[in-house]
Amino acid sequence: MTTVIAIETSCDETAAAVVKNRHILSQVVASQIAAHRPYGGVVPEVASRQHVEIINDVVATALQESGLPWAEIDGIAVTCAPGLVGSLLVGVTAAKTLAMLHDKPLIGVHHLEGHIYASYLQDPTLEPPFLCLLVSGGHTSLIYVKDCGHYQTLGQTRDDAAGEAFDKVARLLGLPYPGGPAIDQLAQQGDPHAFALPEGNISLPQGGYHPYDSSFSGLKTAVLRLVQRLQQESTDLPLADLAASFQMTVARSLTRRTLACAQDYALQKIAVGGGVAANRELRRQLQEAATAQGLQVLFPQMALCTDNAAMIGCAAAAHLACGHTSASTLGAQSRLKIEDVMTLYAPEPI
Ligand code: KG4
Ligand code: ZN
Repeated sequence: MTTVIAIETSCDETAAAVVKNRHILSQVVASQIAAHRPYGGVVPEVASRQHVEIINDVVATALQESGLPWAEIDGIAVTCAPGLVGSLLVGVTAAKTLAMLHDKPLIGVHHLEGHIYASYLQDPTLEPPFLCLLVSGGHTSLIYVKDCGHYQTLGQTRDDAAGEAFDKVARLLGLPYPGGPAIDQLAQQGDPHAFALPEGNISLPQGGYHPYDSSFSGLKTAVLRLVQRLQQESTDLPLADLAASFQMTVARSLTRRTLACAQDYALQKIAVGGGVAANRELRRQLQEAATAQGLQVLFPQMALCTDNAAMIGCAAAAHLACGHTSASTLGAQSRLKIEDVMTLYAPEPI
């Protein structure tokens, strides 16, 4: 059994958790949504300052709620890439300090690998290979999960992430931040076929479309033009119909690409992660399409889909069990491909 305490500060959640292999012993998430709401999005400077203010309390609470003494903690895990560099640095500095103070190994974790490991927390019997659809405010990726530390990105967005598109369209419709839950709620009363919107296909030089990559900026612009046209015709915008049509288009685009990947790579299982995994229309379409093809879909519970430290701890416990640890010089990186996860670990001594 491997037990780690994990820290996650890559964006606007300050989180810590204690995880034993694929089981959560405690988890604390302090969200900064209220601090960023007046700006309509995450402000990096505000985020790092908030992390600094509460990181110590969050870590202390996670350890206390686990009921474990430091002696039973095998390692200190921290998200070190990708993300807002100032925010990541707060977590990395805290983790390095704890590792030195308590003489424990340090395990840097790639944020997206963490999202993948949320599925192992949801279903501890899950084993690779499987396909992960990761849809959050910062990412939209289709990742072939081969083994711990071994991934291949099969598809991604060429511009806005799916969650970012929800947030921008919500702003356009005058809805509060974060936009995803607001659009999801409003769409329940709307007609998803009221307006035909473009799905964001990526044309290939040789003709046809990229089967797995997506684009959401064209869709966002199409909604903007539609809203401007409707505003000229009437003062009352059909907000629910607009929300439902937009949401249906995003869900269809993601479902089509996910199913194409699963079929082409003969993957029987699909795990979903990231905040947009909460979206009811996406869940409905993906479940329906996967069932029709005889594939399994795993939707982790919401607290595991959004940013949290338990998923980081679960990934770190797997790496530590394989002997992977990070050097004390571990840095924060705003960008790092998931294919390069193993660069976070020091080479094994010969
Ligand atoms: O994973 P997450 O909590 O944070 C990161 O971006 O890493 O994802 C947040 C994103 C936001 O863009 C939010 O609008 C979106 O997830 N979101 C949703 C829903 N709930 C949250 N998008 C669509 N439908 C939802 N129900
Ligand atoms: Zn995330």
